[in-house]
Amino acid sequence: MAKLRLDKSETKPSKPARETDESPASVAPGYLLQCAPGLAKVLQKELNFVGATSRDQKLFVKLQRNHDLIFANKVKSDLRLDEIRTAEMVLRCPAYGRFKISQRQLALMAETLTHLGPRRLVVSVAGQVFQRQDLARFLTKSLAERGYSFDDDVEDEVWMFCIDESWYFGLPVFKSRALRDERASEREGALPPTIAAAMAFASVPRAHDVVFDPCCGSGTLLAEFHRYAREAKLTGVDIDPHAVKIARKNMEILVGETSDTEGLIAGPHNETRLTVGDSRTQTAPEGLTLTLANLPFGVQFGDRASNPALYRDLIAASLNSATPEWRGMFLTSDTESFAQSVRDLAVTPPEVMFKVKIRGELATCYRIKGRS
Ligand SMILES: C[S@@+](CC[C@H](N)C(=O)[O-])C[C@H]1O[C@@H](n2cnc3c(N)ncnc32)[C@H](O)[C@@H]1O
Repeated sequence: MAKLRLDKSETKPSKPARETDESPASVAPGYLLQCAPGLAKVLQKELNFVGATSRDQKLFVKLQRNHDLIFANKVKSDLRLDEIRTAEMVLRCPAYGRFKISQRQLALMAETLTHLGPRRLVVSVAGQVFQRQDLARFLTKSLAERGYSFDDDVEDEVWMFCIDESWYFGLPVFKSRALRDERASEREGALPPTIAAAMAFASVPRAHDVVFDPCCGSGTLLAEFHRYAREAKLTGVDIDPHAVKIARKNMEILVGETSDTEGLIAGPHNETRLTVGDSRTQTAPEGLTLTLANLPFGVQFGDRASNPALYRDLIAASLNSATPEWRGMFLTSDTESFAQSVRDLAVTPPEVMFKVKIRGELATCYRIKGRS
């Protein structure tokens, strides 16, 4: 695991961006990655997994209220960066620095953008050092002087991302919108795809996995798992017929096949079955190696009074079909109900894989490995 350098520095007093010749233009591009708050460590492992960074590489990590950020100024390879699923956004940064923006950096920005064509400017500022509108005006004027004009009418973006005194001039490798475009429809309360991806990635996906989501909703977890292990056999069940309808549509788009009347989607590499049912009383798939579940919690799904029994029954159904290599990944913010249900079931002590904020609410992803 690479060492994280957490920046806990105080925000500095306001200083406007200004041109200077002192700071050198960045030579190799850096990469700025943004993920949901709590996912920095998982994202860092995914960066290693796609060969972008090495295990002992020091990365700049900034934990903010609304997201975690990672900056890597030396990547081994950027070839597979667009495969990253746990990041909401990845920016390739040909220029970056602290406080000052040099003449050479402005020239590099203008040259890069002239080469790329029309872009609109998005400025994001956290902290007291930069002022969003001043910075936008400064960049617009400075780049116009160098022959490049931003175009607000185009969709393609260039970002100026500022956190306290650090600034990153970045071009999106992809954005979460691009990930979401692969989904046919969304359901209110669905797990954000990057968090589903973090659960799937942290489960250490295997091609031969037999995966079960007993409360699959719109199928986000299974869809993300499929992207990591296309051959794995997937089964999803939800008590809500509307949710299952959405899950089928989403999975059909991903696999490129339609479902039959039984909810089976037979793709070229795998088989996915999505059905309506009560998972407390259903038999989990035979040969089960992995359960992935975003357990009902919060105001929309589930309630604290009935959750302990519901969680116990949902987990017990998986344990009854579990093979020796089984692991269960469970996400909930109702940690008390989860603790009570695993006590009742006498399973191996749950390991905390990560904690993440979902729409402002803190949820914990646990892994259990079977009965103790
Ligand atoms: C937190 S949501 C899951 C959201 C899902 N991960 C998604 O991205 O859409 C919990 C789901 O559990 C389902 N559920 C609740 N009780 C259930 C039961 N007994 N059997 C099956 N599904 C159940 C709800 O209908 C709801 O869709």
